[in-house]
Amino acid sequence: MTIAFEAIREDFGAVVTGADLRQELAPECFRQIYDGLIRHGLLIFRDQGLEPNQEIAFARRFNRIRIYIGNDKTKMKGHPEINLLGNATDENGEPIAFQNKVGIEWHTDGTGFSHPPVSTVLYCVAAPSKGGETLFASGKRAWDELPEDRKQQFAPLKVRYSYEGLFKKLTSASDASKTDLTEDERVRTPDVVHPLVRTHSVTGHKALWFTEAEMACVEGLTSDESQALGKEIVGHISKPDYVYAHAWKPGDLLIWDNRQMHHSTTPYTYESEVRLMHRISGEGDETPY
Ligand code: SIN
Repeated sequence: MTIAFEAIREDFGAVVTGADLRQELAPECFRQIYDGLIRHGLLIFRDQGLEPNQEIAFARRFNRIRIYIGNDKTKMKGHPEINLLGNATDENGEPIAFQNKVGIEWHTDGTGFSHPPVSTVLYCVAAPSKGGETLFASGKRAWDELPEDRKQQFAPLKVRYSYEGLFKKLTSASDASKTDLTEDERVRTPDVVHPLVRTHSVTGHKALWFTEAEMACVEGLTSDESQALGKEIVGHISKPDYVYAHAWKPGDLLIWDNRQMHHSTTPYTYESEVRLMHRISGEGDETPY
């Protein structure tokens, strides 16, 4: 099996060929893919007809898997590692997946945890013919192209994140019956403080690293100042030139490096068609710096 990477744009993203993710990857193949992930930030594997166990085994090569707190109803039965996303229903017409009605704003995964993931895996089971794309943008490019005065302003900033706040926002904008964490879940997800500018622990590159919806505040700023700064950062990260929109096909598997990438979705305007995605999030070993 010869693994090759075909870049989709200059700043990030590559389609990977020569990898059959149904098989356990030999150490050398995994090493090439891991290096490719760091080099390109986002990897696209096409036509993978995967079973849940194979998705999980692949995701686990990059980091431990995080079993998400709070949303048990939209985890795959028998495979709690897999979070179901989209508008799919069961045979009785009951939703089986998490569908946020307003789309999910720009973010990087796991800002609300002390040890955010190295990577996230998203696998497409069903896709609408139009819409439901996932958008990606590089926090590294966003940092590199930031004006010098803003770099100096942003470099020392720290952001307080609240998983509880994010959970409430996302579930309130969905059909979820549960919009509040239990007391036990709250205790297990205390607020955390992370740098706004993150250093990649492998490459040493800096990246803007931010989730507006999970932000409680920027440390030392008022709520209004934090909100205004948050808007500016997201506006910069998601400049049209910086964005790649992935139009899904069943069998696509994408993995991205959360230490350098942000993502979002386009509005969910495909009422008459089904979208079903499997998301597996990781838990890293490092505290961002
Ligand atoms: C996510 O932000 O994890 C979901 C992306 C998507 O459903 O396109």
